[in-house]
Amino acid sequence: MEKIVINGGIRLKGEIQVSGAKNAAVAILPAVLLCDGVCRIENIPAISDVNVIVRILYELGATVKVINDNTVEIDPKHINSYVLSSEMSSKMRASSYFIGAMLGRFKRARVAPPGGCDFGVRPIDQHIKGFEALGATVTIDNGMVNARAKELVGSSIYLDKVSVGATVNIILAAVKAKGLTIIENAAREPHIVDLANFLNSMGANIMGAGTDVIKIRGVDTLHGTTYSIIPDQIEAGTYMIAAAISGGELMITNVIPKHLESISAKLIEAGVTVEEFDEAVLVRSNGRPKACNVLTMPHPGFPTDMQPQMTAFLALSDGVSVMTEGVWDNRFRYVDQLTLMGAKIKVDGKVAIITGVENFIAAPVKATDLRAGAAMVLAGLATNGTTEIENVEFIDRGYDNIVEKLSAVGANIRRVEFIESGIIRSVI
Ligand code: EPU
Repeated sequence: MEKIVINGGIRLKGEIQVSGAKNAAVAILPAVLLCDGVCRIENIPAISDVNVIVRILYELGATVKVINDNTVEIDPKHINSYVLSSEMSSKMRASSYFIGAMLGRFKRARVAPPGGCDFGVRPIDQHIKGFEALGATVTIDNGMVNARAKELVGSSIYLDKVSVGATVNIILAAVKAKGLTIIENAAREPHIVDLANFLNSMGANIMGAGTDVIKIRGVDTLHGTTYSIIPDQIEAGTYMIAAAISGGELMITNVIPKHLESISAKLIEAGVTVEEFDEAVLVRSNGRPKACNVLTMPHPGFPTDMQPQMTAFLALSDGVSVMTEGVWDNRFRYVDQLTLMGAKIKVDGKVAIITGVENFIAAPVKATDLRAGAAMVLAGLATNGTTEIENVEFIDRGYDNIVEKLSAVGANIRRVEFIESGIIRSVI
């Protein structure tokens, strides 16, 4: 097992390059199944969620050529199975995208329900509603989701809830369906646009991605492509807060500033300086943040995936802030860990009242999920003394080389391997 150990209180200074977007990569990789040629995908983040999907594709029979840490070539020609075992699919939420992709390719899919971070109930009713509207029959037996269709035919689907996953899955199933599919109240996240751009680069006909009405005109075949994944909005936002919480100055490169607007706006409200460049943002701060209220919402609102990181930051503010979680039912489980570090946060359902403290106190804490883990790292960076973070595997699901990237801008951070009785050796 590994821990991340941080000796905090150092002002970070320098440049951090952001990797490709996790939530785009985990949609684009299963989409490869739909194509008849070889796909070369670049700017893939080196994270465990991506490794899981590439492994699934390989086990399903795809030819996978790893060109380097961030580029793979995948030929899905020899995939002939529409079954995804529970062992593979339970490791991550995005394994549900194989339902849409397999349905699109084979008109059949048998996939165990997805895993992923635990934020309360994570239903897939809107995904199923979409598959059924396209003509599939969906049943659940022996813990597996079964979808099958004689033919997939375009249809109009209104999502009762704005859902990234349902929007992705319906696009995947509809891209080779007959005729026109219209998704209304669709998710508008940058990774939805990236998936549509990827599919269009293979010959798909998808219009309106990035708005709440997406139109997909089915095509018969998709050809191979070369495609580079967009930068990760949430990784960028996390490093923006790293600059701010450490009272430092970071140039964060390989970003699309437009995707960061809601995060920049809230940081500026909290007194942080954010300067935008074409493909970079410069973030600078000194002094305590001002308190401010934040509500998470689907894009272009403030992202729920930045909620724990922003809460950690506001926990050091000069005043009382209100953080309202507008997407998930239960995304404040990590607050207990911040409390161990001296944060004063009261949670009532989907609302957290954050009374800022001047300093955190170093303590051993746990990553309770991916973004909660990032929040612990940020808290550790701001804290004098040694913060040890367990359950690092959550952080590795979504942050490419986080220890190396933060070390390079001055953080005293390392991974250590440990056994129950204590630390045994340094890894980095
Ligand atoms: N929902 C339903 N029915 C459905 C689907 C969703 O009621 O059929 C509800 C959910 O319970 C939730 C809301 O709709 O309350 C939004 O869920 P969504 O489907 O948008 O979430 P997701 O697709 O499961 C993706 C990201 C999450 C991110 C959410 C919201 C991926 C792989 N995951 O999850 O990312 O929090 O969208 O933006 O894209 C993360 O990266 O840390 C992460 C958790």
